[in-house]
Amino acid sequence: MTWKPLASVADVPSGNVKACRIDNIPIALYNLDGEFFATHDICTHAHACLSDGYLEDGKIECPMHQGVFDVRTGKALSGPVDVDIQTFAVRIDGDEVQVDVE
Ligand code: FES
Repeated sequence: MTWKPLASVADVPSGNVKACRIDNIPIALYNLDGEFFATHDICTHAHACLSDGYLEDGKIECPMHQGVFDVRTGKALSGPVDVDIQTFAVRIDGDEVQVDVE
């Protein structure tokens, strides 16, 4: 595993999503009630940033055509999306959120 710093814990308040980038990979970082998750930021349907979408109940709704993904698993749930979104392992080290990008 290759853990890389993505953001500070304080950068993403509970219930929010933040656009980040590591090694030119766009990543959406989610805080679900203090638990952090990360997915690829670009929707699998077309070129829209999930970090601009609507986060509720552990699901992110794409802002372009309202496709919905499970933030924890990356599973495509509804709307025009039928390809799951890539997820990344996340860990907290002090006040730093790190992801495994391998
Ligand atoms: Fe995300 Fe179409 S671009 S649902």
